[in-house]
Formats: sequence, C-alpha cells, structure tokens
Amino acid sequence: MTDPTRYWEGFCPATGVRPARSWLRSDAQRLSLNGIWAFRLSPRADADTDFVTEGHTDSGWTQLAVPSHWQLNGHGRPAYTNVRYPFPVDPPRVPDDNPTGDYRRTFRIPDDWPAAGLVLRFEGVDSCARVWLNGVELGVTSGSRLPSEFDVTSVALRDQENVLAVRVHQWSSGSYLEDQDMWWLSGIFREVNLLCRPMGAVEDVFVHADYHHETGAGTLLVGSSVPARVSVPELALSFATGEPVAIPSVQPWSAEEPKLYDASVVSAGETVLVRIGFRTVVITDGVFMVNGRRVLFRGVNRHEFDTDSGRAVSDDVMLADVLLMKQHNINAVRTSHYPPHPYFLQLCDEYGLYVIDECDLETHGFLLDGWGPVAANPVVDPRWEEELVDRMRRMVERDKNHPSVIMWSLGNECGSGRNLGAMARWARERDPSRPLHYERDWSARDVDVYSRMYTSHAEVELIGRGEEEPLEDPQLDARRRRMPFILCEYAHAMGNGPGGLTEYQQLFETYPRCQGGFVWEWIDHGLRSRTPDGREFFAYGGDFGEPIHDGNFVADGLLFPDRTPSPGLLEYKKVVEPVRMLATGRHHLSVENHYEVRDLTHLRFGWVLEEEGRPVAEGVLAIPATSPGETSVIALPTLPPTTRETWLTVRAVLADDGPWAPAGHEVAWAQLQVTAPKLSSPHPSRAGSVVTGSHVRLGPGLFTSDGQLSRLGELDLSTPLLDVWRAPIDNDRPFAWAAQEPLWRQIGLDRMQHRVDEVKVEGDEIVVLARVAPAGTMLGLLATYRWSPLEDGLLLRVDVTPEGDWQCSLPRLGVRMSVPAGLGHVAWFGQGPGEAYPDSARAARVGRFERTVEQWQTPYVFPQENGNRTGVRWATLTDGDGAGLLVEGQPTVDLTVRRWTTEDLDAARHTSDLVPGDRLWVNIDVAHNGLGSASCGPGVLPQYRLELQPTRFAVALRTLRRG
Ligand code: GAL
Repeated sequence: MTDPTRYWEGFCPATGVRPARSWLRSDAQRLSLNGIWAFRLSPRADADTDFVTEGHTDSGWTQLAVPSHWQLNGHGRPAYTNVRYPFPVDPPRVPDDNPTGDYRRTFRIPDDWPAAGLVLRFEGVDSCARVWLNGVELGVTSGSRLPSEFDVTSVALRDQENVLAVRVHQWSSGSYLEDQDMWWLSGIFREVNLLCRPMGAVEDVFVHADYHHETGAGTLLVGSSVPARVSVPELALSFATGEPVAIPSVQPWSAEEPKLYDASVVSAGETVLVRIGFRTVVITDGVFMVNGRRVLFRGVNRHEFDTDSGRAVSDDVMLADVLLMKQHNINAVRTSHYPPHPYFLQLCDEYGLYVIDECDLETHGFLLDGWGPVAANPVVDPRWEEELVDRMRRMVERDKNHPSVIMWSLGNECGSGRNLGAMARWARERDPSRPLHYERDWSARDVDVYSRMYTSHAEVELIGRGEEEPLEDPQLDARRRRMPFILCEYAHAMGNGPGGLTEYQQLFETYPRCQGGFVWEWIDHGLRSRTPDGREFFAYGGDFGEPIHDGNFVADGLLFPDRTPSPGLLEYKKVVEPVRMLATGRHHLSVENHYEVRDLTHLRFGWVLEEEGRPVAEGVLAIPATSPGETSVIALPTLPPTTRETWLTVRAVLADDGPWAPAGHEVAWAQLQVTAPKLSSPHPSRAGSVVTGSHVRLGPGLFTSDGQLSRLGELDLSTPLLDVWRAPIDNDRPFAWAAQEPLWRQIGLDRMQHRVDEVKVEGDEIVVLARVAPAGTMLGLLATYRWSPLEDGLLLRVDVTPEGDWQCSLPRLGVRMSVPAGLGHVAWFGQGPGEAYPDSARAARVGRFERTVEQWQTPYVFPQENGNRTGVRWATLTDGDGAGLLVEGQPTVDLTVRRWTTEDLDAARHTSDLVPGDRLWVNIDVAHNGLGSASCGPGVLPQYRLELQPTRFAVALRTLRRG
C-alpha cells in the first residue's frame, strides 16, 4: 500500500475486529439492525467522512434496505465476469473509480438490556467497510462472505440514540481474492446485529462429537472459552466443558439420517444452544468414509443466489434450496466459492447434506497471466499470507460446530502457492478432524483428497484404476495415488444439458476411489428483469452495459433463476437415485439399495400396469428391508393380459411424511415392458392419385406439382422437409471445449437449401426425389420422400443418403413442417413428461402425457434447442374441439413443437425475444445429437454423436375430426 489512508488497498485491511468465533444461538439479547438505512452512493472511495457523526444530516440521502446489494436497488448496476477482473490487475491497488456506499442509521439500546459488553456483528459486507459508532471509528472489515465483529462496549450510548455509520467500498484489495464466477454485487448483504455480551458469556465453543462405528459409541468433548456446563437431555448427560465424555451408544449423524442431539452450554453469563451430530470422517486406504462407510457424493455446487436480491438470500430461499436438494436425491453441497450464510449450514445439519465448506478465496484472474508472473498471485506473494490465513480461520471458527461440514476447502481456482500451504497448516492444527480440499493444485500437496473439475470420463476411469499420469515428484505422486478422488465440479449444467451423467455415475460406482462429484452448479444466476413493455426475462452478463463480461455463462444451473427445476435436475435425480430397480427375466425385479445407512423400510413400492399409457391394474410390492449395498430379488405379481403396448412401472415413494417431503414423494422408479407393441405398418389404402390442375391428390393429401404436401383433409400444413439444424445449445457454442456450432455454421447446416429433382407417381405412391445441401460446398443429402395414402391420412417414408465427405456430426435428423397455430394442445404416448436427448434420457418414462405448446417449451435463459420428446409412438396436436393432426411414429419418432421456428430460436438472446407466430412448427426426428457438457467440460460421448449414415424413417400423418 502506498498511502496508509487508502486502507481498502491494504494486504490485510481489517482493523479493530474481534477474534473469530463460532456462530452460536444464544440466550443473550440481540438487536437486529436490519431494515431501512439512509444511503448515498459516491463514485470514489475517498469522499468526505463527515457523515459519521450525530450532527451530520442525511436528509439528502436515499434509503436502502439492509441486507441487500445496492446495484439491485437502483444504485449503480450489476456486472458479471467469470475469470477476468473487471479492473486493471495491479494488486493490491484498485481503481479510483470505486463506487462507495455510505450507510447510516440510528438505534437505541433497549432499556431492559443488562450492563454488559456490546458487540456489533456484520455477517457479510461486500467488499470492504469502515465502521463508526457515534463518530468513533471502530475499524475496517474485509472478506465479503465472512463475519466481522467490533466491540462497542465503550462507545455505545445507553438511553440515547446511537449513530452507526458504515462506508462500503465496491473495490478493495479483497476484490483480488474474490474473483468468483458471479455477479459483482456490493453492500451490506447479510444481517447486522448488536449483541449483548454478558459478563462471563460463553463466547466460543468447539464441539468434538465422534462416532465409533464398530461399537456404536460416541465421544463428546466440548471446548469453551470460559468454564461452562454442557447438558444433553436426550442422553441424560451433564458435564463440564473441557471434560471428555464417553457415551456407550449414540445414533450417528449422516446425510441420510441426520440425527442431532440438542445441547446447551451454560456459563455464568450465557446459555448457548448447539446441535450435536456424532460422526467421524476419515480417509482409510484411499477411501473417504463417514462413520466407517464409503460415501458417494451426489453433490451440487451452490452459490447463494436469488433472482431478485442476488446474494442477499432469505431464510425461505435457503430452506427451499435444501428441500429441493433432498427431494432430488442430492446428498452433498460444495459451498462454491465462499462460506454460505450460517443458517444454510444449520439447515444442512438438520435435513442432512454433506458440506464442503469453501473459503472466500478465488484469484482466477491471475490465470490470464499464467497464474501471475507479472503481478504476484496473492496465494504466492507472502504479503498476503496473513489475510489468507485469516480468511481460513474465520471460516473454520464460524462453522466448526456443524456436523454437516465434512471437509474444509481452501478456496477455488487460485493456482498454487505457499499461502495455500499456510492456510492448510493452520486448519489442520485447529481442526484435525476434517480433511482438506483444494482443486487447482493438482499435486494435492496441501490437501487430503485428489480433486479435479470437468475431467473427461476417460480420465476419471484412469484415475479410478490408479493409472493416472504420474506427477513429476514421486513422493507427491505416491501420496496422491493413495487419495480418494472427487470431481468438485462436473457436468456443467449450462443451458440444455448436461449429457453423460449416467456414464460418470457408472465410474463412481465401479471404482471405490472415485467418490462422486458436484454438478456445476445449483442455480442459474439470471437476474429478473422486464422488457419496456413489461415482459419478464432473466438478465445475464452484458445486459447492464458492462464493457467486459461473460454473457450467459452466469446461467449454468440445475434450477432456473426462479428455482424451477430444469430437465437437467430431473435427470440428475434419476441417475443418482438411491434405489435401483431392474427387471431380471420377465418375472422378477431386483432392487439394489444404494443408500449408505438406510434400509428400504421407509419406502413404499407401488406398481401400476399401463396399457398404452392407461392404468389397467395396480398394487404394492413387498420389498424386504434390504441393507445398504444389498440387493433383493422379488417376484413380480401376476399381471392381467393386455394386447397393446404395456409397461409396468414401479415407484419407490416415501411411506410416511418426512422432514423434507411428504408421504408419496417419489425417490426412484423403474419400468419394464410387459407387452411389446405390434409392429405392423399401417395399411395403405388403394386410393390412387388423381391429378387436378396444378395439384395432385393422394387419399386425403393435396400436393403441389413439385410434390409438396399442402393440405391433409381439412388441415392446412406445410410439407415436411428434411431438417438437420438445432438452435445451438450452450454446449455447442464457440466457447465450448468441443464447440460444434462454428463448424456446423461453416458447413452451412443452418442454411440448407432444398431442391426437388423429380416427382414420380408410382402406383399408389408419390415419390419425391430431392437434394438438400448447403451453399458453397459439394456436400449434400439425397432425400427420397415416399408418400402413400392411408384411410384418413398419409404414410411418409424418408430415405436419406449422404453425399460427400461430411466431417461433422449432425445436430438432428428428421423433417420439419408447420400446422395452424390453433393446434396448441399436444397429447402423446411415448417418453416424457419432460424433454430428453440421447445422453440425457433417463428421467423420461413411457406413458401418456399432455402439454400445451407453451408448457412444452423449456425456457433456457439463453434460448436454444429444447423440448424434444423422445420415443413418441403417437401424438395428437389438437385445437379446443379435438380436431387436428395425429402423428404416428413407425415405430417411434422424436417430437418438438413450438410457436416459432428454429431460426427464431437461434436468433433469440432472451426468452422475451421469442414471439408466437401464426403457425406451429413441428419437428419429427429420427435422431438427435447428444448434449454433452462442453460449455465447460467434455463434449458428447462418441456413442451419442449423430454421425451421418444412410438413414430411413417413417411417420404416419392423419387428420383428427372434431369431437
Ligand atoms: C470452474 C469454476 C466455477 C465456474 C465454472 C464454470 O472453473 O470453478 O466457478 O466458473 O468453472 O461455470
């Protein structure tokens, strides 16, 4: 720092703060200072500080709620960058243009408060704040997602108004440590409280509660900063802090059975409540174990995010996240990339989620300089050591009593450096009970698990086999080979995707060392916005005029910004389901228990037999208790005979109401086909073709002289034409690791031209020979459309033969047609109810479903291909009276229906750009390319790529009459 008055540029800027301690529920008085504060925003950090005293008037100021971000309340604008710092990199200096929010409020200390110490506590201020009470400077905070406490005992006034003034800087030296992939949002965004600290207050406790899985015993040691007594009524225990207690039998805590024992710690001046979970985390023989059992992380990365309030998240939002995770079979969270609000961890304890608690540290922007040869990366430069260790200390101290926290993470994406070692040493010393995590130093020198992100399936397999590339240093290499392996990020859930989850899960279940992963990420960070005419959409990078930004890379979650589950989340739920049911032969079902500690008695296994999607019989299966890791094989019931395609669906649902879902909540399911469809092609009628003027009539179809269908009975439609284009999904786009879109566009798949070469009438058929090809190349697809009449429709058979050397996979292959906009109701028998693509199709079951065309769409924040229903045997598109079109696969097709064309979808940048037209666009496909997860990670696996080859498919189109 060149100038001591520029405290916000210090290497370790915090001053005046109290020592870190755990977040505790206390009976001591507390005064919330949340609510409306006076606020003004200045463009620079060094405006006059005359506002801090009582005499100052804030009458010209505006008002701002605490907690909140000022950018989301009309002051300044949000900005999004992923890796790049949005300011010149010259640590620890920051720009003079440094939006600075001055906050001011008054408060009175309640009359009934005892004479005691007083502490002012901030749970989170982004990014650096200077604080005054009654004109007296208390100090400076740093570390946005970490608490700061100031002792105000000698400054606070009894019996009169106190003036609290806080100056918050958007940019500080801390911004170099907080380069997480998220919106830059500033302000006092978590609670502010005045805490009464009675004489002899407990101050801090450290609960050590171990579980011994061989004996079922627990040991408990509660450390405290002052002598105190601990009581655990449920265990009839009362003992002094500092005194180890052995308990012959306890129920352990785990994510599946999060047993908590309420305890109080009572000192002379204070009672604090803690919830004790007995559990032991160890790494044995390279396997990460909780209570002696291998854990398989079915995890997600969670940023704190609310579409309206950013990282100022309410208790309701935190609870919603935990419930949604539990309901979707998720058992673990990495708090990417900072300690969450403390209440979130309380919920994880209570509902059961394993947590990797991550320090508020990321210096990713130094990557662009090869991790910092020019300007020293803060994890390398010793001048930052104290601040980095302090951040680690503040996280560990705050969160150390949560049983849910099973690992500490040093931070994210900082490269490697000595200061990470210092953080790790401090954490090991303070809390040897939890393993350490950090991903970006692949030597894993400072940590206990080998962690990587976006690793391909093939490399995960090598790691699973212990055949990974060796490190240069043999000692480090040998050490790393003995470590468990996790993917702290994988399956980038940006836009339509991720594909390939099943194949990852197979690896996790094959290799003991591969202990699962954490999908990136939980929720899209789209900010709710409106068009000038009031239509809602979700904004992303660049929508606020940021000069540098990373577009919609901020929207890459399993939840849409409004917390609606995406198809990706439903797929994940299915892939990681803790019970797996498979048909063994025709008459038996094997039921595998993939839970870690639970047997299956909490589930009810109902079955339903559906003939062409209509229930014909149902019942309940008696499934043996089946211990974790075991499989039961049971006989299926005798089923009534059926004639049409029939499926037996078995659903494992919660038998009773539980803390995170009601009875009947579906945990797992399976289907087996009982009666196969009869595969007979429809009977062509002997209609013959009739030429009338410039038209040809074939059965109910009317064709133009060049073989284009223009009517089917009463129905006005546009002829089905070969189509290979999809509106690129995020995983196709130019920034993707295996980008497809540039090659596709270069070849011209988005601008294929159709040429009819010949129209022939052959017996009862109209045969149209065509060549479909992009301009400027010799590549082409020869298409033969063969139409034959049916009683109430037409059968279309299409043959596609590639010409030339196609060096790319295709986005899709099928035909596209349009029908009148009024046919907006779709019912189908096939897979559903949601969308599915070849490498993300596990969540789609066979059944009969209905959707309006509006409901059919998946509103990805950045519009892209969506909505494909797969395995469609038949579908009806009808108007209010039931008239319309019947599409019958021969035997199945994929189907997409929308109110705009693929080209409109391709051109749209926000959902609000999509405006319904006067037609419905219907894609009937024989195949799709997979999704992959290349927006950040591997592309589509070879078996899911749509490679060109001669292809034949068929579909029957029939008209439906009113009624
Ligand atoms: C990782 C990073 C995340 C996020 C993700 C891509 O490298 O740790 O914070 O940026 O990539 O969305």
